[in-house]
Parts: sequence; structure tokens; C-alpha cells
Amino acid sequence: MAIKNLKSKRVLVTGAASGIGLEIALSFARRAAQLIIIDINAGALENAQQELRKLGGQCHTYVADVSDPIIMKELAERVQVEHGPLDVLVNNAGVAFLGSFQCTPIQQWHRTLNINVMGAVHGCQFFLPYMLEAGGARHIVNVASAAGLAPTLNMSAYSASKHAVMGMSDSLSLELMGTRISVSVVCPGIINTPITQVSPSGVGSNIRPDQVTKLGEYYRKNGAHPSVVGEAVVKAVRSGRGLYW
Ligand SMILES: NC(=O)c1ccc[n+]([C@@H]2O[C@H](COP(=O)([O-])OP(=O)(O)OC[C@H]3O[C@@H](n4cnc5c(N)ncnc54)[C@H](O)[C@@H]3O)[C@@H](O)[C@H]2O)c1
Repeated sequence: MAIKNLKSKRVLVTGAASGIGLEIALSFARRAAQLIIIDINAGALENAQQELRKLGGQCHTYVADVSDPIIMKELAERVQVEHGPLDVLVNNAGVAFLGSFQCTPIQQWHRTLNINVMGAVHGCQFFLPYMLEAGGARHIVNVASAAGLAPTLNMSAYSASKHAVMGMSDSLSLELMGTRISVSVVCPGIINTPITQVSPSGVGSNIRPDQVTKLGEYYRKNGAHPSVVGEAVVKAVRSGRGLYW
């Protein structure tokens, strides 16, 4: 369902301390929404809160690891008690792993799937019951990727995780037909964020350090500003329609 007026609406964004998540939060804050921002990086989250508060609205922070079901269940309970049901839930937190399939260690598969897929699952699983119980027009946005639509080299774990987010979002969207909660899935392309700033241990053994440097330079030169995604998410929520791009 469309939520045209975002003033004072409760909007929770995961992975909001950086990049796309921060810009999504800023886009909602510019419409006077009340922000609840989540990240695993406490220092960056505090900086994000300061930036968001400059816009004049409310911004609450919670440090949490989206991949941990116990922490996420407790977070949902706490947010419900301290703020009430969410109007908008944005599952954005994510990580990338660069490396060929054969050079992607099993622990990197687990990390990527636990954060990118289970992070979004935990968000939906634990916040949705409160949103349904409260009634009214509400919206879930899951951040997938163009890598969830098209084949990509050296990104099998990331690509698999984003395909899973698409599939989960599609099924959830169908199951919620008949309620007033809509689900959008957003598929950004190349966006200039710190996601490419990975340490040598954060890539597969087939990737050379100079290739990581080049990738970062390519994103800086050619990537879209993350505010493009922030505005697209606001548009999705205001229109109440699913969004693929
Ligand atoms: N940058 C791109 O080109 C691009 C393209 C398509 C999709 N995406 C997706 O957009 C989302 C945001 O990425 P970004 O580019 O802004 O990256 P980013 O690295 O700038 O931001 C990701 C944020 O998520 C947080 N995070 C990581 N693991 C977490 C965890 N376990 N729990 C809580 N927070 C955690 C990080 O601390 C960081 O603040 C991701 O889901 C990513 O896959 C990015």
C-alpha cells in the first residue's frame, strides 16, 4: 500500500552507517520521517546519527548484527516497546565477496549468505508480526542487487545471496497480498560506496591486489551516487509498488 506522507513515519534501515543505507535514511529524514538505524559498526553508526539529526528529525540507533537471529529477535522486541510498530522496514545491510567459485572458501559462503540472506530474513521474520498486528499501510524494502538478476564473474556467493533475496521477497510479496503491507525489492547496479574497500583477506586467491584497487577506482569514477538508491526507495514506498531496476 502506498504511504504518501512520510512525516513522523517510523522507518528502520539496516546497514545504515554507510553507503546506500545511510542515503536511504537521509532520503526518509528529508521527508521528516522518524529514523531507527541499525549497523554492526558502532562508531560509523554514531556519525550517521549525527548527520541525520542535522536534518532536524528524530534518529535512534541500535548496534546489531543482522545475521544473528537471537540479537535480531531481541532488537524487534525492543524497538516495538520503545517506538511501536514500523511503518517502513528496509533490509539493506550486506557484504560482498570477490573471488571465483573455486577460490571462495566455505566460510565466505556462510558469511555472505548469513548477512545478505538471513539478515533480510531476520528483519522480515521478527518485525513483520508487529507490522501486521498494527494494521494500516506499511512497507518492506529488501535491497538485492543487479547481481541478483544477471550472471556475474567472481561473485558466485554474492550473486547467489542476492538471487535468494529476490526469491524470498517475491514469495513474501505474494503471501502478503490481501494485507496492507507491500514488499519492494531494489536491485542497484554500480553504486559508489565503500563496499569495494576490501582487505586482501576479503577476496579470493585468484584476485590480485591491483585488481581490487582498479575495481575501487572504477566504482569511484563510474558508480552512481548512493542517493539515487535512497530516492528510489522513497519512491517505491510512496507508490506502494514493487520495484525492480
Ligand atoms: N554498492 C553497490 O554497487 C551495490 C550494488 C548493488 C547492491 N548493493 C547492496 O546495497 C547494500 C548496501 O551496500 P553498500 O554498497 O552501501 O555497502 P557499504 O559497505 O557502504 O555499507 C554496508 C553497511 O552494512 C553494514 N553491515 C555489514 N554487515 C553487517 C551486519 N552483519 N549487521 C549489520 N550491519 C552490517 C556495514 O557496517 C555498512 O555500514 C548491500 O546489501 C549491497 O549488497 C550495493
